[in-house]
Amino acid sequence: MTYDFILYNIGQLILPKSKERPLKGQEMKELNISENAAIGISDGKVAWLGSSIDAESLKASERIDAQGKVVSPGLVDPHTHLVFGGSREHELSLKQAGVPYLEILAQGGGILSTVSATKNASEEELLQKASFHLERMISYGVTTMEAKSGYGLDAETELKQLRVVQRLKEKYPVSIISTFLGAHAIPPEFKGKEAQFLEHMSDLLDEIKERGLAEFVDIFCETGVFTIEQSRKYLQLAKDKGFGLKIHADEIDPLGGTELAVSLGAASADHLVAASDEGIKRLAEGSTVAVLLPGTTFYLGKDQYARARKMIDEGAAVALATDFNPGSCVTENLQMIMSLAALKLKMSAEEIWNGVTVNAAHAIGKSQEAGTLEIGRRADFVIWDVPNYQYIPYHYGVNHAQSVFRSGKKLWE
Ligand code: NIG
Ligand code: FE
Repeated sequence: MTYDFILYNIGQLILPKSKERPLKGQEMKELNISENAAIGISDGKVAWLGSSIDAESLKASERIDAQGKVVSPGLVDPHTHLVFGGSREHELSLKQAGVPYLEILAQGGGILSTVSATKNASEEELLQKASFHLERMISYGVTTMEAKSGYGLDAETELKQLRVVQRLKEKYPVSIISTFLGAHAIPPEFKGKEAQFLEHMSDLLDEIKERGLAEFVDIFCETGVFTIEQSRKYLQLAKDKGFGLKIHADEIDPLGGTELAVSLGAASADHLVAASDEGIKRLAEGSTVAVLLPGTTFYLGKDQYARARKMIDEGAAVALATDFNPGSCVTENLQMIMSLAALKLKMSAEEIWNGVTVNAAHAIGKSQEAGTLEIGRRADFVIWDVPNYQYIPYHYGVNHAQSVFRSGKKLWE
């Protein structure tokens, strides 16, 4: 057989273990690293894995020398708010003056300010803006990402955001998983009528399902936004309609969104900065992935980060994401999040790599195709200009990706 190409002289090939379920607890410490490795690619898929020496005797149309660098699966970013109008740099001075995130929201700013900008933007404008951010994500090594709506809070604008995600899927050869987050905030006209607003959003679920506009449904369960009971009812309905579930949970106050996520069998519970001991225990018992967003804690200027160590030590499955959005975490750089995970969440390099590959893929239901490199899988990988896999969390704030491949084709360099 003649391979389309062989990538050889890979100093370290990162091969996260793939399982039917996410890696939990101690399993997150395991990471296969193959030294002086090579990959054979055919028809966009991984067709051969072995040593560089054995690769010499293989026939290939092209050979690429990785020059002793590190190669990993394409990164997976399982939590982003990719599509939105406008920006919120004017809120920085409020933050500096100590006005809390939820206070800015209560005053009609924050998420609600982005809602106005998103309503006022045309579908074309949103597409162009999201494309800009998406291309930047790809440049940082991401080949699979999730994208949420949630800056419409009305039928028309929510559907407009979801259509933009569909168009991004057609425009770019990456995997984008779409999440309907119509329950992201309470629009002023529904203040005090939260249940009515949630019914309004629930009415969209059938249309979203029929038109294949989203795979997951998410809700912001937080003080001043949606309660546990409202979240339970809304998510249960979405589950009954066949959606996967996600939840913005226990970010600021420990309301018990973590426990709710596990009891509903959600694919992920996200944020979890204030998750209780009981919530962490439940995560360890269940298969819901804890998607941690240390970039958000950093950007909100908080000192207390999610208790990743306790979660992992007690047996939970942890993944990492950017939470890219215009208010609480303005970065497309998942490598920066890897550094914050090392410094602030005290995660080891092995745990971090599993958190941005296999476990992130599980958090968005894509573990069969993303997050690792195996024979027969789509060849999505990154060549990193670093000497070893520990180097990326260590050297922070810059882009270490040298080239990004999707289905065996160079997507970015
Ligand atoms: O995940 N917490 C709620 N939603 C987003 C923030 C959105 C925004 O501020 O625009 C988050 O942090
Ligand atoms: Fe978020």
